Amino acid sequence: MTTISPLIAGNWKMNGLTHSLEELAELARLLTAGAAPRAVVAICPPATLLAIVAAQGASSGILAGGQDCHMAASGAHTGDISAGMIADTGAQFVIVGHSERRADHNETDDVVRAKAEAAIGAGLKPIICVGETEAQRDAGEAESVVAAQLAGSIPDAAEQHEVVIAYEPVWAIGTGRTPTLEDIAAMHASIRSRLEGRFGADHAATIRILYGGSMKPQNARDILAIENVNGGLVGGASLLAKDFYTIISAV
Ligand code: PGA
Repeated sequence: MTTISPLIAGNWKMNGLTHSLEELAELARLLTAGAAPRAVVAICPPATLLAIVAAQGASSGILAGGQDCHMAASGAHTGDISAGMIADTGAQFVIVGHSERRADHNETDDVVRAKAEAAIGAGLKPIICVGETEAQRDAGEAESVVAAQLAGSIPDAAEQHEVVIAYEPVWAIGTGRTPTLEDIAAMHASIRSRLEGRFGADHAATIRILYGGSMKPQNARDILAIENVNGGLVGGASLLAKDFYTIISAV
């Protein structure tokens, strides 16, 4: 099986003002002072900070990503940001289909797929998020819900272009709760096998599957050691450079 370089991506969500760039500078210091990280490192700040994070992160190898993009390339969409605009900042990634977008903005799998297509078209790597709610897990539907989200949200273009999948159980996001290591392993194996079914084993083996949802310095080592976990999408713990660096170092 191909070895995939893990990706640790920080999702700052709607947090971050210019003074937060001190955390970016601190992260850069930590990353350049210690041994070279074994992971690709990215920060997805709010759109207001994206260009500056892309520029300031570059010298220390910190990549930048958007948190969402519009599906259209341009036009009359007040307040929205296109994938091309995100790419224009120097960013390489964009999160699409985060559960907060799915819930707050009624984003369906079709919308998420269109956004992922737009991202690919702009030369970005979409980080496509999927994950079940607590009620769906309790009903034994977690794997089927995630399978349907994968089928609907991943564009066919993922066959020729790099995409990243992030498994984020909705009930684990920002709650301090995580699935058991066995449940994470089972879900990631199930996602890998769906990707194999759609894209073939060789290509599926190259697709990163991140875990997200209350990844912290305390649990990162165990979670990142699980087979088929190729990194993390980190919310709260990415806001403090020290915590985020500890997670990066756990790879
Ligand atoms: P959390 O968020 O790490 O704060 O749980 C993860 C995410 O929503 O990407």
